[in-house]
Amino acid sequence: MSDSVGQVALPRHVAIIMDGNGRCARARGLPRTAGHRQGVEALRRTVRASSDMGIEYLTIFSFSAENWSRPKTEVSFLFDLMRRFVRRDVAELHSAGVRILIIGERQGLDPDIVSLIEHTEALTRGNEGLKLVVAFNYGGRQEIGHAVRDIGRAVASGSLDAEAITPELVESHLHTYGIPDPDLLIRTSGEQRLSNYLLWQCAYTEFVFVDEHWPDFTRETLERAISEYMTRERRFGGLVARSA
Ligand code: FPP
Repeated sequence: MSDSVGQVALPRHVAIIMDGNGRCARARGLPRTAGHRQGVEALRRTVRASSDMGIEYLTIFSFSAENWSRPKTEVSFLFDLMRRFVRRDVAELHSAGVRILIIGERQGLDPDIVSLIEHTEALTRGNEGLKLVVAFNYGGRQEIGHAVRDIGRAVASGSLDAEAITPELVESHLHTYGIPDPDLLIRTSGEQRLSNYLLWQCAYTEFVFVDEHWPDFTRETLERAISEYMTRERRFGGLVARSA
């Protein structure tokens, strides 16, 4: 990182919406699948860079609950990419001390994917390096909906008093329970929206939008986004700035 960022704290948790794989491929006269493949390379670079920089949590949006509406062939390509990522990269990430957590709905996924997910989480559970959180078959509204349903059941059964429902209680029913909220959210490809990603968790997150398509995302792009984050004043609804 450049000296200009001075003493300001690094974000503890960076969340990324990896957008623009298809557009990047099209611009190069390649099929969308080539863009997704290059997207995996960008992901490898970003995990390495985040780990080197001392970021504690990196959350990536790898398949959204709404991505099911894409053509079947693209959906199965993305699932195969996930399978290959787990088979090829997890051993290396494990030896680098990376802990992998996968958030999202598991019901309805192919059983082999669920086993890969469970194996990956169990293998890396004791690791103390970067926490790589993969949002897979994830949707923020779905996550909040599930939490509300679980809480509603507890109230209906009499085991929970409705007066005891607090933001902390809701949080304890989210997939991300125990993970600090993202400090910085980066979206690539020039789009400026949240697309059902970490809706609850991003209440006070700083957003940085970059023009590069995800396959072109480099360590420098990440550093630039972090430098921008470090110029922000975070007040969390109060009057006094807390360091970004
Ligand atoms: C957005 O580009 C990207 C995705 C929907 C998938 C993201 C997946 C990867 C980068 C690789 C897979 C990750 C793992 C963990 C294996 P887009 O297709 O929406 O691009 P477009 O908006 O230009 O069409």
